[in-house]
Amino acid sequence: MATRMELFGEPRVRFKPPRSSLLKWIGNKYKMAEEITAYLPETFGTFHDVFLGSGSILATVSPASGVGSDTFAPLMDIWMTLQSDPAEVKRWYAERWEQMARARDRVKAYEQVKASYNAKPNGPDFLFLCRSCYGGVVRFRKADGYMSTRCGIHKPIPPQAFNKRADEWHERIRHCTFTLADYTKVMESAKPGDVVYCDPPYTHTQAILYGAQDFSLKRLLRVIADCKRRGIHVMLSIDGTKRSGNTICHLPIPRGLFEREMFIRVGRSMLKRFQMNGRSLEKHVVADRLLLTY
Ligand SMILES: C[S@@+](CC[C@H](N)C(=O)[O-])C[C@H]1O[C@@H](n2cnc3c(N)ncnc32)[C@H](O)[C@@H]1O
Repeated sequence: MATRMELFGEPRVRFKPPRSSLLKWIGNKYKMAEEITAYLPETFGTFHDVFLGSGSILATVSPASGVGSDTFAPLMDIWMTLQSDPAEVKRWYAERWEQMARARDRVKAYEQVKASYNAKPNGPDFLFLCRSCYGGVVRFRKADGYMSTRCGIHKPIPPQAFNKRADEWHERIRHCTFTLADYTKVMESAKPGDVVYCDPPYTHTQAILYGAQDFSLKRLLRVIADCKRRGIHVMLSIDGTKRSGNTICHLPIPRGLFEREMFIRVGRSMLKRFQMNGRSLEKHVVADRLLLTY
């Protein structure tokens, strides 16, 4: 692989992310979206985001033809409904927000939504929980998938603000289709000239989130190799450097599978903050790796 480490290089910005995020999801790429999408091929067919999560990359590209997929059913429920009936998603959020606003005990109101979700995982409850839970960090118990995060100390954004976001995101995904599926199935259906963006659960850092402990990177690498053989361009986000910029997580990447490797910084605003505090950048920036098969 021709390794090109561009920790602070300036790729050409081609796509702008939405003004603000719609869902809070750990490991989301919202702050890196501008930089990651700058490395897309100049032209491509359908854009597939096969570990969709909060959809930050798909919404940033806002493709003329796109597919978003994930194995987490409540998330896909939100995406599919946002596509077909955004007013319904707004209603889901407003109902729960108002319930909390009216309650004497806001924690109790939150716990009611959480209990409803845990009794039967679903998109409407999940949407509100991800915006109102502590630190926006949705955690699930490994044994039974129980959502365990307590109520956040912040006030969730009001429905008017949420509605504006929902409108913008709906507009950006209007040419996309959504499917509840394992990445393998979607990648197998990709056509030559398409792009597949992979942002799998990180084996090193996200073990307690969304079933990451069962994720096999080896299997994903085999599917990527098959896509490359079929003329499909694959972008893979993976653990970057941690803290010092020198520690690289060792991964079983087959020789010749990727043509380029980039280091993606976390976000301009964060860099600025570090600079303003007069602290050393390299010591604190957590970069992500982006591997390209082209
Ligand atoms: C790191 S997150 C993706 C974050 C996303 N790029 C964003 O900006 O929000 C990984 C996602 O992979 C999903 N996932 C885990 N195993 C999967 C599988 N086998 N097939 C498809 N999606 C899977 C999880 O539900 C989670 O949403």
